[in-house]
Amino acid sequence: MSTDKNITSVLKETRQFPPQTEFVAQANVNAAERERLAEWAKSDPDGFWAEQGRSLHWFKPWDAVLDWTNVPHAKWFVGGTINASFNCLDRHLAARGNKAAIVWEGEPGDTRTLTYQQLHREVCKFANALKGLGVGKGDRVTIYMPMVPETAVAMLACARIGAMHSVVFGGFSADAVADRNNDAQSKLVITADGGWRRGKVVPLKANVDAALEKSPSVQKCVVLNRCNTAVEMKPGRDVWWHDLVADASADCPAEELDSEHPLFILYTSGSTGKPKGVLHTTGGYLLGTSLTHKWVFDIKEDDVYWCTADVGWITGHSYIVYGPLCNGATVVMYEGAPNQPREDRFWEIVAKYKVTILYTAPTAIRAFIKWGDQHPKAHDLSSLRLLGSVGEPINPEAWIWYHNVIGGGRCPIVDTWWQTETGAIMISPLPGAVATKPGSATKPLPGIQAEVVDKQGHPVPAGSGGFLVVKRPWPSMMRTIYGDDERYKATYWSNYPGVYFTADGARQDEDGYIWVMGRVDDVLNVSGHRLSTMEVESALVQHPKVAEAAVVGRPDDLKGEGIVCFVTLKQGTNPSDELKTELKAHVVHNIGALARPDDVRFSETLPKTRSGKIMRRFLRDIAAGRQTTGDATTLEDFAVLAKLREDDE
Ligand code: PRX
Repeated sequence: MSTDKNITSVLKETRQFPPQTEFVAQANVNAAERERLAEWAKSDPDGFWAEQGRSLHWFKPWDAVLDWTNVPHAKWFVGGTINASFNCLDRHLAARGNKAAIVWEGEPGDTRTLTYQQLHREVCKFANALKGLGVGKGDRVTIYMPMVPETAVAMLACARIGAMHSVVFGGFSADAVADRNNDAQSKLVITADGGWRRGKVVPLKANVDAALEKSPSVQKCVVLNRCNTAVEMKPGRDVWWHDLVADASADCPAEELDSEHPLFILYTSGSTGKPKGVLHTTGGYLLGTSLTHKWVFDIKEDDVYWCTADVGWITGHSYIVYGPLCNGATVVMYEGAPNQPREDRFWEIVAKYKVTILYTAPTAIRAFIKWGDQHPKAHDLSSLRLLGSVGEPINPEAWIWYHNVIGGGRCPIVDTWWQTETGAIMISPLPGAVATKPGSATKPLPGIQAEVVDKQGHPVPAGSGGFLVVKRPWPSMMRTIYGDDERYKATYWSNYPGVYFTADGARQDEDGYIWVMGRVDDVLNVSGHRLSTMEVESALVQHPKVAEAAVVGRPDDLKGEGIVCFVTLKQGTNPSDELKTELKAHVVHNIGALARPDDVRFSETLPKTRSGKIMRRFLRDIAAGRQTTGDATTLEDFAVLAKLREDDE
C-alpha cells in the first residue's frame, strides 16, 4: 500500500473537503437546496415523496403515497400504475432517441453503442420473444450473463412484460444457479455461451447445463452467442437469442403494472447458508434509484457515466440499468477485468470515452494503488468530474489516492452506503452540498432516516460504536424475501420493532457524520462481494473428508476481508497441503470463485461455548492474529465490531 504518513487511523481522520466553488455553481443540489429537501422530508414526508414521485411517468396516478399500516410491509404509490421499461426507454424517445444509452466495450476490445431508440427496439423485440416462449406477468426468469448490452436488454424486456428477473452473477457456480432457479421457481434461463474474463471464456452455458439437471421448473433456455464457442443445444429446450429475435416484432407496448408489481428478485447472502431472494417492486424502486442517481451523481444531459460493477449485483441493477436509464443518461458498460490486457484498462476506457463520472469499489481502488500510479498517469483523465465509491468502507488512504491520482484533486468523491435490501443509495454526500471526510459516507440523504443506535434503540453518544438502523420506510426498500416472509420479518424487523435493522456497525461523529465499519452478523465482505460464513461452512461440510467447519473473516489489505476456514477432519483422514487445496477448490465448485478461501486451517476440535456454539470471536482473533502487517484502520474497526457482535457471550 502507498503510505501517506498523515493517515494513521479513521478514528483520527479529521480532514474535510468542502465542495469546490465551480462544482457548487453547477450542482443539481447545493447546500441550501439539500437543507430545504431534508427539512421538507422531515415535516411532510408524504408531500415530499409525492413531489419526487412525479418525476416518473405513471399511466395512472396513485391514490396514496405510502401505506405503512401493515408493518413491515410498505406499499408505495398505492393504486398507481407504471412500467420500469417504459420509464427507461419510451419516455426518452422524443428528446433523446439518438442519444447513446449504452456505450459498451468488450474485454477483447470490440465495441458497440446502442442509442435509446435502438435499445428500445431490442427490448421490444426480446420482450415479444419472451412472450412467444410463454413467459408472462409474474413469471420468474433467471439471467446468467456476461456484461454485455443484451443483459440490460433481457432485464428491461422482463420489466416490460411484468416478468420478474433474477440475475445471477456470472461468477457463481452451476450449483448456485440451480439453488436460485429452484428457490425462485424460474421458468426460463437466459445465458450466453460464455463471457470474456482475463482473456479466457467463462463457460456460462456449460454451467447452466449442469444447473438445469437440478432445476425442474425451468422449461426453456435462451442462449446468446457472445464468444463463438461450441455449446450443446438441447433440442426443445435451448434456443439461440439471434434466432428468437430475428422474426420478433419490434412493437411491444409496455404493460401497465401496479406500482407494487414485483420488478425483480436478487439473491444475496445472509446469516444462514441459504441465500435470500430480496424482492423489489416497481414504482418505489424506480424512484429511489433515479432520484439518488440524479442527486448523488449530479447527472447532467451530456455526462458520460461509468459504473464498473457487474450487473449481477445490486449496484449494477440500480446504477447501470434502472437509475441511469430512467434519467436518460449515457452509460458506459465494460465486460471484463480491470487488468486485461494491462493494468491500465480502466484509464484507457475513461480517456477513450471521456468518462465524466466514475463509480467503483474500494477493493478495485486498492488494487490500482498496488499496480502503481504509472497506469492512470499514462492517460488523460481530465474528463472526470465526479468519483464514487461503493460496497465496503473506503480506507482514508485509498480515498486520498483516488482523490489525488484519479480525480486530480478536483473531483468530489461520493462514498455511498447502501445494500441490496435498500435498493438505492441511503447515506452519501451530495457532491455540491456536503463537505466530505475521507472514510465517511457522511449523512443520510433527504428523506432517509438512518441513525446509529445501541441495543435498546437509543442513539449512541458521538464517537461510540452502535448499530445502523433506518427509522422510516423509504420507496426503494425491499418488500420481502421471496417465498420466506417470516425470514424477512425476523432478519430486518425483529431487533427494533418498526425499525429496519441493517446489520452494519457504525459510529456517528460530533458533526453527525456516519462512519460505517462493517457487518455485525455473519456476513463477509470479500472484495465488495457479500458472502455468508455459513454458506462457505455448508459447502465445506459437504466434502466427504470434513467433519466440521467454522468460517470467519479476517482483515485483508486488498480485499477488505479474507476468508479463513477452520476445519476438523473425519477420523482417519490426514491433514495435508493437498487436502487444503482440494477443499478450496471444493468451495469454489460449490459457490463460485468469489468464495475461494484464503486460508484453510486444520484443527482437532473447534472451540465451543458450554451450550455448543462455536466461539467465532475467538476464531476471528486467531485468524486476524496472523495478520501482523494489517492496516491500522481496519484493525481498529475490527476491534469495535467484535464488541458489537457479542456473539460468543
Ligand atoms: O456492510 C455494508 C457494505 O456492504 C453491505 C451491503 O452489501 P450488498 O448488499 O452486497 O450491497 C453492496 C452495494 C450496495 C452493507 O451492509 N457497504 C456497502 N457500501 C458501503 C458499505 N460499507 C461501508 N461503506 C460503504 N459505502
